[in-house]
Amino acid sequence: MHILITGTSSGIGHGLAKEFVDRGDEVWGISRREPDELDQKDNYHHLQLDLTEYDRVRQMVPDFIGDIQRFDLIILNAGVLGEIAWMSEVGLNEMKRVMEINVWANKVLLDLLFKQVKEIKQVIGMSTKASLRSSPGWGPYSVSKAGLNMLMNVYSKEYPDTHFNAFAPGLVDSEIQEDIWQIEETDKYPTIKKLQDARHTENMPEPDQAAPMLIKGMKMALDYDNGSFVDVRDMPMDQ
Ligand SMILES: NC(=O)c1ccc[n+]([C@@H]2O[C@H](COP(=O)([O-])OP(=O)(O)OC[C@H]3O[C@@H](n4cnc5c(N)ncnc54)[C@H](OP(=O)(O)O)[C@@H]3O)[C@@H](O)[C@H]2O)c1
Repeated sequence: MHILITGTSSGIGHGLAKEFVDRGDEVWGISRREPDELDQKDNYHHLQLDLTEYDRVRQMVPDFIGDIQRFDLIILNAGVLGEIAWMSEVGLNEMKRVMEINVWANKVLLDLLFKQVKEIKQVIGMSTKASLRSSPGWGPYSVSKAGLNMLMNVYSKEYPDTHFNAFAPGLVDSEIQEDIWQIEETDKYPTIKKLQDARHTENMPEPDQAAPMLIKGMKMALDYDNGSFVDVRDMPMDQ
């Protein structure tokens, strides 16, 4: 398969890229940092780029993918947590920063890819249950991921030959979880406490452990409605 993944330098994106590369797929990855291990693999291609520098994205991505005319899977995974604080305390600049990477960078990239590549079979936007259900402190993240869900839904109507889903991966022990781990005001943000308690338990696997299950979930997502939100935890994984 030809697979493009954003955010391959750490966490879920890194785990997925490694798993696909080990299976023999051809993977194109984008992130600001170089990923460890993957750079030595012939079937992994990396572009070091800030996806919110849109002019550079428009300049560099076309050369990066070259004459590839088919992508089997595009995983829009790069994202940030943003500030955990009550909405009234979050400045607009922080809201905009989170929207830039969690939403608009995906629009810019998809527009480029649909212009250049003949066939794109599947697009996954890495989302979260927090995009459907808000809780105190999660404003920038929840608002941005709700925007990502709708972005996938809109594109699914405009490119019906491609299958789009917003995909919640469940809990995975990544750098985002490390940020959550550092938060001390757990009385103010009850869901933070739940995530901290889940870390280092079987309820929060490492990215490498989670990757095979996530890949299976992405394949199963093709049977769900085009443009819909799916949560890997609601999928019948034992089938
Ligand atoms: N971990 C979980 O439990 C969980 C649950 C639900 C959803 N998610 C979603 O899963 C996705 C991956 O997150 P993660 O948990 O694996 O966290 P992570 O380890 O922090 O990974 C985030 C990735 O995004 C990349 N990225 C961030 N800003 C970027 C930018 N401006 N340009 C290019 N790349 C950028 C980072 O690379 P660089 O810093 O090198 O640029 C990194 O590779 C996110 O969209 C997150 O919302 C995670």
